[in-house]
Amino acid sequence: MKGVILAGGLGTRLMPCTKVTNKHLLPVYDKPMIYYPLKTLVSAGIEDIMIVTGGNNAGDFLILLSNGREFGLKDISYTYQEGEGGIADALRLAENFADNDKVVVMLGDNIIEDDISDAVMEFEKQDAGARIFLKEVSDPERFGVAEVKEGKVINIEEKPKKPKSNYAVVGLYMYDSDVFEIIGTLKPSDRGELEITDVNNEYIRRSTMKYSILEGWWADAATSFESLFRACQLVRK
Ligand code: G1P
Repeated sequence: MKGVILAGGLGTRLMPCTKVTNKHLLPVYDKPMIYYPLKTLVSAGIEDIMIVTGGNNAGDFLILLSNGREFGLKDISYTYQEGEGGIADALRLAENFADNDKVVVMLGDNIIEDDISDAVMEFEKQDAGARIFLKEVSDPERFGVAEVKEGKVINIEEKPKKPKSNYAVVGLYMYDSDVFEIIGTLKPSDRGELEITDVNNEYIRRSTMKYSILEGWWADAATSFESLFRACQLVRK
């Protein structure tokens, strides 16, 4: 299984802090934001990891993470996203790297408390398809929201005004190699991006989507200064 961390974007919601740096390099308590998803993947036994980044500060990731030895890796792969095409567009750049293997994809601004080793092992055993992580939250309208019925996710809505549940879709996804074929069929959403929610809904349509519930806390650290502050507090605690 390969790992992909998506760390592009302009970070407009964290201006002016992101004027001269990438949001995933900002500190969350005592470490740069990207350290947390990287540690989550490494702790789950993922050794082949690609960072997808972009913008003017892409080179800083190489300076910060170097060859990955500090994290117990032999090396790290990097690639560059031109423009702002969204999460699914960024993931598409990892197609060669994935080389028909399954992938665990984590957004560089998502921080979780749980160890995901068991879910990764479950997914290794799953013949095909995808697996997402859900977390009950009090403000689901900020996220992708899953409608769950009889133990199955039947639909996901991206930032709905009237959420059908409190289950937010965490920025952590596992896919088989079909994901790249699915991304190729997507059309940009109203915000002009290829949405990861559309990828997930296609797996639901194919009846090959499974899910896990996160037990520990989850922080989406970079959607606002409030979310960054909350992430710092959770990490500190
Ligand atoms: C993205 C996804 C959303 C998901 C969230 C998790 O939102 O589109 O479905 O719940 O990440 O962090 P964005 O950060 O692009 O607003």
